[in-house]
Amino acid sequence: PARLVVLISGTGRNLQALIDAQALGQLGAEIVHVVSNRPGVQGLDRAAAAGIATTVVDHKHFASRDDFDAALAEVIEASRPDIVVLAGFMRILTPAFIRRFEGRLLNIHPSLLPKYRGLHTHRRALEAGDPWHGASIHFVTEELDGGPVVLQGRINVGSTDTPETLARRVMEEIELNIYPLAVRWMADRRLQWRDGQAWMDGDPLDQPLSW
Ligand code: GAR
Repeated sequence: PARLVVLISGTGRNLQALIDAQALGQLGAEIVHVVSNRPGVQGLDRAAAAGIATTVVDHKHFASRDDFDAALAEVIEASRPDIVVLAGFMRILTPAFIRRFEGRLLNIHPSLLPKYRGLHTHRRALEAGDPWHGASIHFVTEELDGGPVVLQGRINVGSTDTPETLARRVMEEIELNIYPLAVRWMADRRLQWRDGQAWMDGDPLDQPLSW
């Protein structure tokens, strides 16, 4: 199976979905290492409970972003990953890091990209009065939350939704389903990165697939 490294910063619900999919034989990949930039987070416990190796690379112990990213890249590279996924990893990565893993690096973002890059996506979707909201899986490029989107899922925003209910609905109804699927496509090499763009089943992906 493809070797998968998962980067986290917190709760690790997306990580858990990947662990569960692997346990069911539905991931096509083996999670070989979970790396967190924050010590003591719940995602590390989830990985340990599943018998997966974990490492903390604490950004607070590094003088610069370049130093942190270099250390992080070394730890990841030592696991010889075919695929690296950011699953609630809340650090901005340097261009050098992104180039090193280009084409192998996916992120999940809680909005219908290109809408709402960055933080507070649920509140921003509500404030804009959007009828739809959701989550996206994209290849990571040097542009923050700006790389080619490969897969999106959407939900209807209800009149009673709050940022909290939206966050929960997007997580449970979309995120936990789409990340294992995208990883599976990468592992099966149905989804590929070629010539600076995403390809699916041998064709350039002109627009995101919808889930
Ligand atoms: C998820 O909603 C993920 O989409 C988001 O953080 C949450 C992590 O939850 N990621 C970003 O906002 C990236 N900028 P989790 O740790 O429970 O999977």
